Amino acid sequence: MADKPVLWITRKLSDATEARAARDYDVRLNPQDRLFTADEIVAMSGEVDAILPCHSEHFNADVVASMSPRVKIVANHSVGVDHCDLNALKAKGVVVTNTPDVLSDATAEIALLLMLAAARRAGEGDRLVRAGVWNSWSPSFMVGTQMTGKRLGIVGMGRVGRAFARIVQGFGMEIHYYNRSRLSPELENGAIYHASVEDLLPHCQFVSLHCPATPETVDLINEARLALLPDGAILVNTARGALVDETALIAALKSGKVAAAGLDVFKVEPGGNPELAKLDNVFMLPHIGSATRETRDAMGFRALDNLDAFFAGGEPRDRLV
Ligand code: DGY
Repeated sequence: MADKPVLWITRKLSDATEARAARDYDVRLNPQDRLFTADEIVAMSGEVDAILPCHSEHFNADVVASMSPRVKIVANHSVGVDHCDLNALKAKGVVVTNTPDVLSDATAEIALLLMLAAARRAGEGDRLVRAGVWNSWSPSFMVGTQMTGKRLGIVGMGRVGRAFARIVQGFGMEIHYYNRSRLSPELENGAIYHASVEDLLPHCQFVSLHCPATPETVDLINEARLALLPDGAILVNTARGALVDETALIAALKSGKVAAAGLDVFKVEPGGNPELAKLDNVFMLPHIGSATRETRDAMGFRALDNLDAFFAGGEPRDRLV
């Protein structure tokens, strides 16, 4: 029997994922779940045939150029691949895959949590009760914004955007969207298409970002675009921190142009933005959109499905390059 391919799983994954990987591959695991440096990634590349990384490992042009030609496939555990220089990996002949579909519902759930929390001042309320300083109640106390019946703009109507649209239909929201191309009526499911972000934003009492981070979408939400929102709009970002100019968002949150924001992703991760953290009208989570037991298993299995197809000589289902 031929030797099993050597597979490096860079982070601690779900037990079920690691068990399946250990059954089918000669695995190198990371039980301490420590973060590897770029130099360590390069060094490790000489010892393995395949890498199963997360978005925490950066395969930029320098890393890819220094990687051993032994690595034949980078099978990401994430749907987002902004941590990978796809052109550099393609030029080196490395196959790259991701994990679409399987995290859409979990991420849509977190978008809903952020939207409700931002609109209804959940962070502020939690801090107040937790600190033991909740000492009065009146009809004017902690009044927020209701989602029901409002207009929601979705930027990026891919799988996650559509999953979120399905959920918020239960709130009777009128859904508007921008996408690079218009969806079929079936996928649109009643949502109203806008041909540009500029056309979309003036309609958005709520806006939720669901597009990938690419060179074209960096700072997609900037000062000029924030100015297009109706006063008191609420912004949610579960996609990538790169999409938002945080300095412009902070100014809009301070002026009230944006009433509140719900953010799961930041320009700097881990860590976030200390200036955002000073604002009461921001509800923040530490990039946990896909962090459910069910979805972690599904992400791991999808990455392994892609590896299995590759090493069986077939075409991985989620091949990007
Ligand atoms: C993804 O899959 O892109 C999530 O952000 C977790 O990495």
